[in-house]
Amino acid sequence: MGLNDRFLNACCGQPVDRTPVWFMRQAGRYMPEYRAIRAQHSLLEICAQPDLAAEVTLQPVRTLGVDAAILFADILLPLIPMGLDLEFAAGEGPVIHNPVRTAAEVAALRPVQMEQSLANVLETVRLVRRELDGQVPLIGFAGAPFTLACYLIEGGSSRNFLRAKRLMYADPATWHTLLDKLALVVADYLAAQARAGAQALQLFDSWVGTLSPEDYEEYVLPHSRAVLGRLAATGVPVIHFGTDTATLLPLMAQAGGDVIGLDWRTPLDWGWEQVGADRAVQGNLDPVALFAPRPELERRVQRVLDQAGGRPGHIFNLGHGILPETPVENVKAVVELVHEYSVGVREAT
Ligand code: CP3
Repeated sequence: MGLNDRFLNACCGQPVDRTPVWFMRQAGRYMPEYRAIRAQHSLLEICAQPDLAAEVTLQPVRTLGVDAAILFADILLPLIPMGLDLEFAAGEGPVIHNPVRTAAEVAALRPVQMEQSLANVLETVRLVRRELDGQVPLIGFAGAPFTLACYLIEGGSSRNFLRAKRLMYADPATWHTLLDKLALVVADYLAAQARAGAQALQLFDSWVGTLSPEDYEEYVLPHSRAVLGRLAATGVPVIHFGTDTATLLPLMAQAGGDVIGLDWRTPLDWGWEQVGADRAVQGNLDPVALFAPRPELERRVQRVLDQAGGRPGHIFNLGHGILPETPVENVKAVVELVHEYSVGVREAT
């Protein structure tokens, strides 16, 4: 394979020969190659061992033919050196045994020396770059301050984010102190990934859709903007992603990012208007469409591409991560279809 710059060009709104495609959570349990490694090692062990993490990062590149690799890590990793006792409990998802809920607990969070505390992740970035040898670009990532705060306050996954939002409403000063600290760690972490060789960065604000635009503007936007503003100096494009964000898209675009992620609840063309024509967009197939019969899956892929209309600055992706039981052959079929069909959409416009 020759050098593939489709993804990076699309991030910058440049025309490309075919629409680039990758998948959030493209490395993971739906892949037999991943399950084989996972049978021998915990998630945290894989993340801590650069050779394993690099191998898992490369699996979907080899199997699927995607236009970008995403670093194998987890958004919760930087919380460990901040002082949190993180475990991925079988069947439960992440658990933080010492959640942060008071001003004193926020004050006790430790600053992080990236090159020391997250040295193994940065080593994975270097190793993956060497092994990819320019075939496709590597995306680094981190959780956004709000989404990380939710895990850290709730102590795990949550449906209503009751404790996090209660802290926000009851004690805004402590909330903002916490988000300032998280913003600093996240910006340092992403900048370190870029220095280590990540060629694009994605900021995951996965749960931000639980907020109204008013609350987003007051409690989240300044902190996400602080992160995204600092990343401008890295010179690599940044993707700003959230879900359930239909009413938040203009504000997320204001906060920053070269590319704005769209979930499947908004038609892509409508979402792009909300974000503004000066930005690129990424999305937005429903992850459950990958379970549909092939003709229905194809129809849905084509609809996303038709809504993008061949305009420069579209990166094909799901609206959220691949689900664990997804059939691999359907994921492969989507890559092929995006590459074939997007040529035609370009010729027609
Ligand atoms: O995209 C990739 O292929 C790279 C790897 C990656 C992982 N986590 C590995 C992982 C990425 C990009 C993430 C991001 C992440 N982690 C997010 C943001 C994306 C999103 O889905 O909204 C979030 C919210 C997390 C936190 C997290 N990690 C949860 C809630 C869980 C448990 C639920 C689940 O999917 O199992 C994890 C575990 C996790 N992180 C797994 C993987 C491959 C599955 C665990 C396993 O292998 O046992």
